[in-house]
Amino acid sequence: MEVVIKKTYEDVSVASARVVAEVINNKPDAVLGLATGSTPLGLYKELIRLHHEEGLDFSHVSTFNLDEYVGLKPDNPQSYHYFMHENLFKHINIDPQNVHVPSGTTNNYPAFCEWYEDRIEERGGIDVQVLGIGSDGHIGFNEPGSSLGSRTRIKTLNKQTIEDNARFFDKPEDVPVYSITMGVGTILEAERIVLLANGANKARAVADAVEGPVSARCAASALQMHPETTLFLNEDAAGKLEMREYYDWIQEKKPGAPETA
Ligand code: F6R
Repeated sequence: MEVVIKKTYEDVSVASARVVAEVINNKPDAVLGLATGSTPLGLYKELIRLHHEEGLDFSHVSTFNLDEYVGLKPDNPQSYHYFMHENLFKHINIDPQNVHVPSGTTNNYPAFCEWYEDRIEERGGIDVQVLGIGSDGHIGFNEPGSSLGSRTRIKTLNKQTIEDNARFFDKPEDVPVYSITMGVGTILEAERIVLLANGANKARAVADAVEGPVSARCAASALQMHPETTLFLNEDAAGKLEMREYYDWIQEKKPGAPETA
């Protein structure tokens, strides 16, 4: 895992967008795995800027979102379909046929989950997966206890997550209890992963993910098994890392490091 600590949220957004843009520039038909929530908003803003000002071309790009709330229709403002449309898709030249967000209203979840996995495979797999992290260590909606080999499926949300996400709803009781989410196993198959974290409320989960044992207790710790994962953290989110000095040292020495394969 590469740990990159930036001063501000804006720096985290720009640095992570650069990775995604580089993937698209190297492979115009790249497959992106995308997250919702507050954290990637700055990254999406930067991708939109790169599209408008530097011609970043999404016309052949495909996307697969991590998750959706069960029961919310795509036109519900709290749905992740709606979020993605408002915060990214409507601002770039992506072909709507190449956009995939799990369905929160299918009448056959097992069949849909299988279809979603097959579709990712059919597109050649995810080239770069964007992740946020929950205060309980979840990635996607893989809550504590999720199998580290799990695939796309229904997951019951943790009370902590319901509390955390209540800010997007009128009342906490409106937060759906179930979600459909890519599994940890699905996520680990991405070629490259970038995880973003911002704020002191993520510091414990980040430290558990990076320096704790690999455990279903903190789903993000499974990323320790992935060979191409970079964490972009702001100062607050990095606040509980014990090996902070070493991560900074690595970044400082990076320009002189020998090429890796
Ligand atoms: C959302 C998702 C979640 C969020 C996480 C952090 O698609 O996959 O894992 O990334 O809950 O959410 P924010 O960024 O709102 O703190």
